[in-house]
Amino acid sequence: MAFVIHAVTALPTIPQPPSPNPLIPVIAIDGPSGSGKGTIARRVATALGFHLLDSGALYRLVALAGSQQGVAADDQQGHARVARGLEVQFGMDGAGEERVLLAGTDVTRAIRTEAAGAEASRVAAMPPVRTALLSRQHAFAQPPGLVADGRDMGTVVFPGSPLKIYLTASPEERARRRHKQLKDKGLTVTIAGLSQEIRERDLRDSSRPVAPLRPAEDAVILDSTGLTIEQVVDQVLALARSRLPAIS
Ligand code: C5P
Repeated sequence: MAFVIHAVTALPTIPQPPSPNPLIPVIAIDGPSGSGKGTIARRVATALGFHLLDSGALYRLVALAGSQQGVAADDQQGHARVARGLEVQFGMDGAGEERVLLAGTDVTRAIRTEAAGAEASRVAAMPPVRTALLSRQHAFAQPPGLVADGRDMGTVVFPGSPLKIYLTASPEERARRRHKQLKDKGLTVTIAGLSQEIRERDLRDSSRPVAPLRPAEDAVILDSTGLTIEQVVDQVLALARSRLPAIS
């Protein structure tokens, strides 16, 4: 398949400093699955001309690469090794669609299934995997700024971020949104099945001992139930303008 990468996010090839550059503004957007984080983070990054970190994709890629390499499901060090060696490129194809390449192979669809999300959530509970992905995530903080989307962006990865958003929505609304998203991608799922998976994933993500899903103490909690994407984006941009003087 023809594949043109217009904007490859460079991943570190040399050892990175242990923490992100404090001079680069980072907007951290955390929240549970289906809260709309991904869409909001992308829109905000585009509006501000900032880079984007989809940290969930990294966990999904570790799970996929681990199973491809025959790493046992409970082998934490094995998965951490996979995380350190991930050969990944994020880019756009000729039609402007986001593409993710793993060791040169297009895995965009493979990492977006519900099963891939559940596998990601399992490897994400492994402390050595989280440590292995830390400097890789810090490397995304490049001028003029970064919008980082995940579960622990504000609490662990970018705790110095001047704007932390915790985006949430009711479980029913999240299941409905996810259903639409997956249907648009041609994947077949039921709302009831999705609700169940969302509840299980929420529980696993928020009850794990390492980097559990929770709002940072200084996070702004935004409930997007009943709001349009534009309304949420506008609220985040207004907050960004008031908190990040460089972009006001
Ligand atoms: O956001 P996404 O659904 O792609 O994330 C997949 C899984 O990866 C989540 O359910 C969560 O377990 C894990 N994750 C995480 N920390 C992040 C991002 C994702 O633990 N920063």
